[in-house]
Amino acid sequence: MTQDELKQAVAREAIKYVVEDAGSGVGTGSTANCFIDELAKIKNRIDGAVASSQASADRLKSHGIRVVDLNSVNELPVYVDGADEITEHLAMIKGGGGALTREKIVAAVAQKFVCIADASKLVGVLGKFPLPVEVIPMARSHVGRELVRLGGQPELRQGFTTDNGNLILDVYGLSILDPLKLETEINNITGVVTNGLFAHRGADVLLLGTAAWVKTMVRK
Ligand code: A5P
Repeated sequence: MTQDELKQAVAREAIKYVVEDAGSGVGTGSTANCFIDELAKIKNRIDGAVASSQASADRLKSHGIRVVDLNSVNELPVYVDGADEITEHLAMIKGGGGALTREKIVAAVAQKFVCIADASKLVGVLGKFPLPVEVIPMARSHVGRELVRLGGQPELRQGFTTDNGNLILDVYGLSILDPLKLETEINNITGVVTNGLFAHRGADVLLLGTAAWVKTMVRK
């Protein structure tokens, strides 16, 4: 199977986690796009979707799926999204598409986080993929210096503004042996909105597309 076919396979599998007559949280990126396309096939059985980015909201609307404001829901049974890297403990790096803050917010509300990914995303140690950090523009240099102090090499994502009007620093050169600790340390830097480590709120389920089948891994 090609990488695109693996993404489609995990997206199809994720539909089994969607709760009928309820809203679903929807992530951002090419794998999440496959999920949105699958969701469209059952749109009459769901009560809309909460989007983690403007791009996903636009794709949902193009399929005629109602986009629901997160503030108008008390509960969200499930959130389905991709990852840039994920470990067997279901901690992730996310934000390659720059939507990490809204993704983290929707994930925080959801009862269950289902990560969908092709096998290339499963890693032993997080950090080969540069860690995205969303930063308030006036704090860019300060946050950059603090990230260097933590051992990273931050680079400003050129020509990019988040849906929240902020900047992204992509941090290279990290070997993240303790994702819980680093997630907290970076979030404690003044001027950081959030970082792309999803360790405190990792995935509950990983649907991993391999050549032979979709493997299901559950957070212990
Ligand atoms: C978006 O900001 C990211 O968190 C994506 O979920 C992540 O980058 C995975 O994207 P792909 O499915 O395109 O690899």
